[in-house]
Amino acid sequence: MDKTGHNTSGDAGQLRFAQSSAGLTSSEIRDLMSLATAPGIISFAGGMPGNELFPLDEMDRIYNRLTEKEKQTALQYGPTNGLPSLRESLSYYLESKELPVHENRLLITSGSLQAIHILARAFIDPGDRVLVESPSFIGALSAFRACQAELQAVPLGGDGMDLSALEQELTGGASLPKFLYVAPNFHNPAGIVYSMEVKRQMIALLQGRNIPVIEDDVYSDIWFHEEDLPGMKNLKAMNPAGIDICFTGSFSKILGPGLRLGWMLVPEPIYRKCELIKQSIDACSPSLSQVIADKFIRSGEMNSYTARIREEYKKRGEAMIAALEEHLPGYVTFERPRGGFYTWLQLPKGTDSTLILKKAIEKGVVFVTGKTFDPAGERNDHMRVSFCNTDVETIRRGIPLIAQAIREVIGK
Ligand SMILES: Cc1ncc(COP(=O)(O)O)c(C=O)c1O
Repeated sequence: MDKTGHNTSGDAGQLRFAQSSAGLTSSEIRDLMSLATAPGIISFAGGMPGNELFPLDEMDRIYNRLTEKEKQTALQYGPTNGLPSLRESLSYYLESKELPVHENRLLITSGSLQAIHILARAFIDPGDRVLVESPSFIGALSAFRACQAELQAVPLGGDGMDLSALEQELTGGASLPKFLYVAPNFHNPAGIVYSMEVKRQMIALLQGRNIPVIEDDVYSDIWFHEEDLPGMKNLKAMNPAGIDICFTGSFSKILGPGLRLGWMLVPEPIYRKCELIKQSIDACSPSLSQVIADKFIRSGEMNSYTARIREEYKKRGEAMIAALEEHLPGYVTFERPRGGFYTWLQLPKGTDSTLILKKAIEKGVVFVTGKTFDPAGERNDHMRVSFCNTDVETIRRGIPLIAQAIREVIGK
């Protein structure tokens, strides 16, 4: 404390923070990663699109063609649920994915992470059980932890969720879970796609139980093989009776995360609650981003842009698979990604991937350790290696270093 009674020591012990913020701690991994920002370091750690892939010319064109009235709209507050013109154009885009737009309500959010946060706030009371995949997207886990949920992990296999584990959680727990959170298409970090069969059985297990599903779908446009599309049909598009499916999506991977624009498509009663929560958080999402995203869809540029980036991510994904197959020791296994941003390496059981990360940093390369994505924050015998933010040549240079780090820790 200084003379005025202000806390200047940075000692969090004296500050009376809310209990709900206690679970939000800086991890050892984040501290390690801060060592990894030296120039020249190769990063397979991030989940961000490649900077060089952003549609800069299209953005210039869109902005320069805005009328005075549109520019004024772009700088003004807008409706909480989003600008009408964007809600309309986004509806066409979602309809093209067979999503039941008209039977549901669309809420524009500040990134899809905000959509997940809002849903978490709508449903979770402290101590509530929430079902999540293991592994799971860390941003969603943090949102649920911030609401003081008790996370119940359901393991993922190569074709989706372990259905007997899901059934056990649904029938065996002390209380009814508040919801199930899943990301069936190009999972972060597991890289997998749920099979239609797993989706059908999951629906059959969930029907009539009053457990909503949050379906997180931010990577489904980054597919590498067109023939996979029918099998990637969203749970929401399957439109099952007796389950409230809350579908969340984003412009982050198909335009740019800097816009901070996402959405949720949810049944009316959930929409009404979520709109009130959003109103209390930020009143509305950035109007400038919404004006740009709307024009991007309407001009047809979004379709040509996603076709272009798909090609590039496919090259990167395939280069990564080839490099991993060539250099990794046989005891490391992984599912070959058919889209999205990530590969998820399974190390021998019990391996501590933090030791491998330390070695890798010495060699000038980084990735994300497995426990980051474990709902319990413990299991560390996996590593996530992303191919989204490094070009093919860098992937070819970096993967041998990852393989060396693994061999030095585990053995030949
Ligand atoms: C699975 C998943 N869901 C949601 C998000 C959040 O994206 P945003 O808030 O940028 O829309 C991400 C970001 O990496 C993600 O990987």
